Amino acid sequence: MGENKSGLALSMNHVSKRYPGTLAVDGVDFEVCSGEVHALIGENGAGKSTLMKMIAGSFSDYTGEICINGKEVRLSSPSIAKENGIEMIYQELSLALSLSIAENVLVGNLPTKGIFVDRKAMVERTRDRLKRVGLEHLDPLMPVKDISQHEAQLVEIAKALGNNPCILVMDEPTSALSREEVERLFKIIDSLKKQGLAIIYISHHLPEIFRVADRVTVMRDGKRVGTYEIEEVNAGKLVELMVGRSVSEFYSSRSTHLGEEMLRAEHLSRYGFFHDVSFNVRAGEILGLYGLAGAGRSELGRSICGADPIDEGEIHLKGQKLAHKNMGQALEAGVAYLTENRKTQGLALRLTVGENALAALIPKHTKNFFYSGKDDKPVLDRLISDLQIYPPDPSRTVGNLSGGNQQKVLLSKWLSISPKVLILDEPTRGVDIGAKMIIHQAIEKLAGQGNAVILISSDLPELVAMSDRVVIMRKGHLIGEMNKGEFNEETVLLAANGEGGFVNVN
Ligand SMILES: Nc1ncnc2c1ncn2[C@@H]1O[C@H](COP(=O)(O)OP(=O)(O)OP(=O)(O)O)[C@@H](O)[C@H]1O
Ligand SMILES: [Mg+2]
Repeated sequence: MGENKSGLALSMNHVSKRYPGTLAVDGVDFEVCSGEVHALIGENGAGKSTLMKMIAGSFSDYTGEICINGKEVRLSSPSIAKENGIEMIYQELSLALSLSIAENVLVGNLPTKGIFVDRKAMVERTRDRLKRVGLEHLDPLMPVKDISQHEAQLVEIAKALGNNPCILVMDEPTSALSREEVERLFKIIDSLKKQGLAIIYISHHLPEIFRVADRVTVMRDGKRVGTYEIEEVNAGKLVELMVGRSVSEFYSSRSTHLGEEMLRAEHLSRYGFFHDVSFNVRAGEILGLYGLAGAGRSELGRSICGADPIDEGEIHLKGQKLAHKNMGQALEAGVAYLTENRKTQGLALRLTVGENALAALIPKHTKNFFYSGKDDKPVLDRLISDLQIYPPDPSRTVGNLSGGNQQKVLLSKWLSISPKVLILDEPTRGVDIGAKMIIHQAIEKLAGQGNAVILISSDLPELVAMSDRVVIMRKGHLIGEMNKGEFNEETVLLAANGEGGFVNVN
C-alpha cells in the first residue's frame, strides 16, 4: 500500500475494533475521495460510529491500516487525527455546556493579547464562524446551556469547520435540525465539496442520503456489506442491504378508541416561550404537535410535565386541576415527558440499562426508604424484549450503547410506568427503520391501553401516520388543529409556516 491514488483522501484497509465482548468493526475496507460525500448507513449498532471514531483518533487499539492522502498514519489519539486534518461532528453533542459559544468554537485556539484572552477578537472570530451556519443572531458570549438543541448542533458544525479540515465526519448531523436548517446544511456541504473536502455522512434518513451523497457504504454487524454509486441504488435496495431482508416502512391503520378527556390545557403561557395555549387530549388518543424549530413545542411539553414553570393558565388531568410544582409531582399525577435531549437530560450515561429503564419506577416501589428492585425484573425483561434493546443485557452501561439503543432505553424508562399522559419529544431520533417501527408499536400500545399521548415530531411522515389529530404551533402560539382525514404532510407543513388559513382554535 502507500501509493497515492489521485484524490483518495482517506482509505481504511481491513480495520477492526473490539470493545470488551463486542467486535464492533470487523475487517472493514472504506475510502473517501476529496470532493466526495460518502454516506455510511446501517442499522443501530452496525458499527458506524465506531468506524468513524477510529478516524477521529478515539482508539489506540484498532487493527488494520489507515492512509491519509496515500500515506499510512496511526490515528491513535484525537490530536494526531486533528493534525491530519480530520474533524468529527459527533452524534452525541460534545460541547461544554457551561462554557460560552465562543470558548467552545475556538477551543484550543483562543486569540490572546499578551497573557490574556483577547475578548474582542474572540467575539469577532466566533461571529464569523457562526455566520457560516446561519447563527449570526447568537451572542458568542452566551453559555451553550442557554441555546436550543438545534442551535447547539449548528454550533458544533461551526466549530468543526473553523479548523479547516480536509476530512469531515458528520455522525447524524441533522437529527436535531428543522427542515430549513437541514437544507442550509446541505448547501454548506455542497460548497465544502466544491472546495475539495472529503465528507463522510452518517444518517438514518435515506432521502438525505440521496440528496447529498455521491457514494454510499452499507454496514451490517460490524462488517461492510458493500459500497455503491448513489445512482446504482434506491431506498428499497439500501434497506434490504442494511437489514438483510426486504422491509417496507408501512404504517398500519390503527383503530382508535377514544375515551374521556384526559388532559386539558387552558390558556397556558410561559412568558417568552408560548402564549395562551389551549388544547385537550383524550384517553386512547395520539395527538400530534407540530411546529417549526423555535415554535415552542418542546417548551410547552417541558412546562406541562413540570420541568419548566408556567406563568399563566391551568392544566386539568381527568377534570382535576393539576397543581404540580416539579417533574416529580407531575409524574406522580401521571404526566411524563420524554426529552428530545437524551444525553444531557434524559439518561444517566454512567448507569446501567436496567437502572435507567427502571428509574421512574423507583419512587413507586420504595417503601420506608427501601427499594425492592426484584419485583421490577419482569418489567425490565419485557421492555428489553419489546423494544429489542441491543445488547439485551440490563447490566450494560448506557453510555456504551449505540445511539439508537440509548433512545430505546430512554423510551423504556417512561413505558415502564405507563403514564396517563406521555409527551414524546422526537421519540425516534437516531433510530433505524426497524427500531422505528418497534417504537411506533410501543406508542400505539400505550395509547391502546387508554392513556393519552402527545407526539412532538419533526418527522412529518411519522407525525401524519401516527396522529389521530394534529395541533400546530407557530411562534409560541397554537394556531390551529386538524382532525384525521383533514391533514397530510403538505397541509401540516403549510400551516406551520403560517399559510394554512384555518381558524384559530383559541
Ligand atoms: N463504548 C462501548 N463499549 C462497549 N460496546 C460498545 C461501545 N460503543 C459501542 N459499542 C457496541 O459496538 C457496536 C457498534 O456500535 P456503534 O455505536 O458503532 O453503532 P452505530 O452503527 O453507530 O449505531 P447507531 O445507529 O445506533 O448510532 C454495538 O453493538 C454497541 O453496543
Ligand atoms: Mg452511531
